[in-house]
Amino acid sequence: MDSLAPTVWFITGANRGIGLELVNQLLQSPSNEVFGACRNPVDAASLHALAGPGKGTLHIIALDINDSASIEAAAAEAKAALGERGIDYLINNAGINPGWGDSPPVMTVDNMLAAFRTNVIGPALMVQTFAPLVARGGKKAIVNVSSTMGSIASRKPQNQHSSYSISKAALNMLTGKLADSYPDLTVIVMCPGWLETDMGGAGAGQLPVSTGVGGIIKVAQGLKHEDSGSFIEYTGKRVPW
Ligand SMILES: NC(=O)c1ccc[n+]([C@@H]2O[C@H](COP(=O)([O-])OP(=O)(O)OC[C@H]3O[C@@H](n4cnc5c(N)ncnc54)[C@H](OP(=O)(O)O)[C@@H]3O)[C@@H](O)[C@H]2O)c1
Repeated sequence: MDSLAPTVWFITGANRGIGLELVNQLLQSPSNEVFGACRNPVDAASLHALAGPGKGTLHIIALDINDSASIEAAAAEAKAALGERGIDYLINNAGINPGWGDSPPVMTVDNMLAAFRTNVIGPALMVQTFAPLVARGGKKAIVNVSSTMGSIASRKPQNQHSSYSISKAALNMLTGKLADSYPDLTVIVMCPGWLETDMGGAGAGQLPVSTGVGGIIKVAQGLKHEDSGSFIEYTGKRVPW
């Protein structure tokens, strides 16, 4: 591998929140080439504003992880831009939390299906489609962004966010299955911390998004192949399943 070749990152949900800050921090290094994927590139003004002289290379591409044709089109676009090169880090960040107040007695079919569709099936299809590109990369790493809300062992007596938490627990199991199925790749699941974003809210103990994102990048860069199948938080600590 050419040691001067840029490090290639592919980030889903890059137009706001954690995804946007991932792109922002990665572009501070000119040695990074970043694919910022979002549903509507035309409306992604904050993402477009991150490009600039002296920074890393930014490609903005359309991607709806609920739509397999969109996933295939995004992979084709990345492949065309990369030529023979691959993706070093695929960060499956896009996610939703439908039905914030839901608990098992009141969960709706719509919320449960929506959470599973985006938070589990989306990353599963992303890996099915992008694995060949990641296999061509130097680092060969996939980071699925989950949450300690998906940790059964860390469960708190809090009857909220149930569809979300259940979908993140499923994403955790998906990650174990992916680690088994793709032994040449390093696939982990990560909790970014409780961060100030549209999803995380603001002002009640959340960390600045920059803190969690700095942690995600540091953990990703430090990954070793033997970490595959692990659940790690932004500080580098293992999260109990
Ligand atoms: N913030 C926290 O405290 C926290 C804690 C633990 C885990 N997480 C996880 O971190 C990830 C990012 O969260 P966040 O706080 O940045 O959330 P956010 O501010 O609500 O942003 C969510 C992002 O996901 C994108 N997205 C949703 N559905 C999508 C789809 N079908 N296709 C493509 N993109 C889609 C959104 O795009 P649009 O703008 O088009 O909707 C947006 O870019 C999520 O997986 C979340 O579960 C967050």
